Amino acid sequence: MGRDIRGSVALITGASRGIGQAIAETLAADGCDVALVARSEGGLAETAARCREHGVRAECIPGDLSDPASLDAVAHACVEKLGRLDILVNNAGVFAVSKGEEADPNAWDRMLQVNLLSAMRLTHLALPSIVAGGRGAVIMLSSLAGRFTSPGMGAYCASKHGMMGFAGSLFDEVRDQGVKVCAICPGWVNTEMMSGSGVDPTGVIQPQDVADAVRYVATSSENACPVEIQIHPQKSPRRTGAS
Ligand SMILES: NC(=O)c1ccc[n+]([C@@H]2O[C@H](COP(=O)([O-])OP(=O)(O)OC[C@H]3O[C@@H](n4cnc5c(N)ncnc54)[C@H](OP(=O)(O)O)[C@@H]3O)[C@@H](O)[C@H]2O)c1
Repeated sequence: MGRDIRGSVALITGASRGIGQAIAETLAADGCDVALVARSEGGLAETAARCREHGVRAECIPGDLSDPASLDAVAHACVEKLGRLDILVNNAGVFAVSKGEEADPNAWDRMLQVNLLSAMRLTHLALPSIVAGGRGAVIMLSSLAGRFTSPGMGAYCASKHGMMGFAGSLFDEVRDQGVKVCAICPGWVNTEMMSGSGVDPTGVIQPQDVADAVRYVATSSENACPVEIQIHPQKSPRRTGAS
């Protein structure tokens, strides 16, 4: 039988739009109270309103994950406002293409901070509450770029490969305490992030497909933990002609 997550508290980063918004709504529909993190207060408010339609509590925690100093406040605000933290979804991320010799190394630093280091530090801060609750999960929004490589995507691939290493090690550390750890690895998903990619957004993975994978992990039985889920577009992505 699957784990019942009603009454759990989920903290979702990058919840102002895209995949994070779909994850928040899906967990809310399953009865989780949600804490929503991103910079855009308007986007967070919209997600919170959608979540509350499911009769749960939804709290907005505006924060910039590129600032390591903001992370303690984010984690503490969740427990302060909602009383506990059971499911952490490290979803916030940024994407940019730049080849090694042409890249701005400061932009690499920012990408690694948002995509990888903030996720590691938030996990560190959240684990005591997650372990104490006894029904928790840490879910990383990695990418197929966490398994494969591609020219111009070195920093993004490094951030996502880093997530895979962190998630795998973490699972071995906390599995016996009942904590689920999973890295979800989608290909192209129809969100703002893929605008400008030149790929037809209608033929790729939709945010709800990724949210369904998060639900699957969080509600999987006490006997089993999906530790990595690759999601490929069913059909080969089509180019639109835009770059
Ligand atoms: N779309 C794809 O094709 C695809 C494929 C594989 C994996 N992914 C991964 O899936 C995750 C979600 O991506 P998405 O497609 O939903 O992208 P998106 O639509 O661009 O959303 C990104 C989210 O991250 C938040 N974010 C970005 N920088 C932030 C910062 N400094 N501090 C706090 N929040 C920040 C954004 O909120 P604010 O701007 O309001 O701060 C937004 O809520 C990312 O980790 C991405 O790498 C995406």
